[in-house]
Amino acid sequence: MLDIELLGMELKNPLMLASGILGVSGASLKRVALSGGAGAIVTKSIGMTPREGHRNPTFVELDNGYLSAIGLANPGYVEFEEEIDVAKAGNVPIIASVYGFSFREYVEVGRVMEGYGADAIELNLSYPNVGKAGAFYGYSEELAHEVVAEVKKEVNLPVIAKLTAGAGDIVAIAKACEDAGADGITAIGSLRAMKIDIETGRPVLGNKMGGLSGSCIKPIAVRCVYEISREVSIPVIGCGGITTGEDAIEYFMAGANAVQIGTGLLSRGITIFKKVSLEIKEYMEENGYSGIDEIIGLAL
Ligand SMILES: Cc1cc2nc3c(=O)[nH]c(=O)nc-3n(C[C@H](O)[C@H](O)[C@H](O)COP(=O)(O)O)c2cc1C
Repeated sequence: MLDIELLGMELKNPLMLASGILGVSGASLKRVALSGGAGAIVTKSIGMTPREGHRNPTFVELDNGYLSAIGLANPGYVEFEEEIDVAKAGNVPIIASVYGFSFREYVEVGRVMEGYGADAIELNLSYPNVGKAGAFYGYSEELAHEVVAEVKKEVNLPVIAKLTAGAGDIVAIAKACEDAGADGITAIGSLRAMKIDIETGRPVLGNKMGGLSGSCIKPIAVRCVYEISREVSIPVIGCGGITTGEDAIEYFMAGANAVQIGTGLLSRGITIFKKVSLEIKEYMEENGYSGIDEIIGLAL
């Protein structure tokens, strides 16, 4: 009932682990696939050189979401082969998230991830907290177009562009990515945000700014998916604030072909994928739907 075909990958359900949440080690990716029930998993964003990330505190819980500035901490692409090998035992498609500080770095890491056996590449054009990487490319139509085009020239896997609502016109960026040959769009990454501790008068996060995620960003993300789906003909993957089947259904109705879950794992645990799948199925049965296709784009 929930199985889908997406970019040549067979998914047992349309729910994926979002990048950066438990995605840094192969063992945790495998655990999400095997016991968690995700249809696909996206790795932590990987770059060319190992990064320690930003200084503590890197994560704070808010009333209706989370603020984080991990700073793209990752072991670098050389070390990541072993993690992909371990994750493969989870038997679900693996999407390697890639970032770079230049076009060349995106291409190079993408090529290496293809060699490691990833099933698709997600280009991180959304991360808001590390200078000239991630969202730096996703804020500009020209840069987004060029990074996708360069990667498409040398990587023979489906390429998904992950975008940010921090861009002035996310629809124009999505169209530029499609025009450059992107096979899919993920919308959205966390949003640049800040919290001040009024006792100390200082920003709470070590990096001062962070990325906002969780329930509070869902209405923005659903709006982005809705607007992008109307304008592009490649699949759109929704992301932001999903914790229940109802949340996921909203995204499908806005035009998403699949969705990703990140910080929802913190409130509902690793089996959130199983729980959300069940809730979607219940909704479909109650409302007489037999396939997810019947819901996708209903609100458009
Ligand atoms: C701790 C943390 C680390 C993240 N790391 C990455 C990352 O490495 N690459 C990326 O594309 N997005 C990263 N994200 C963004 C998530 O993939 C996702 O887009 C965002 O959290 C919104 O989804 P959610 O509300 O379901 O968490 C991170 C988010 C969090 C909270």
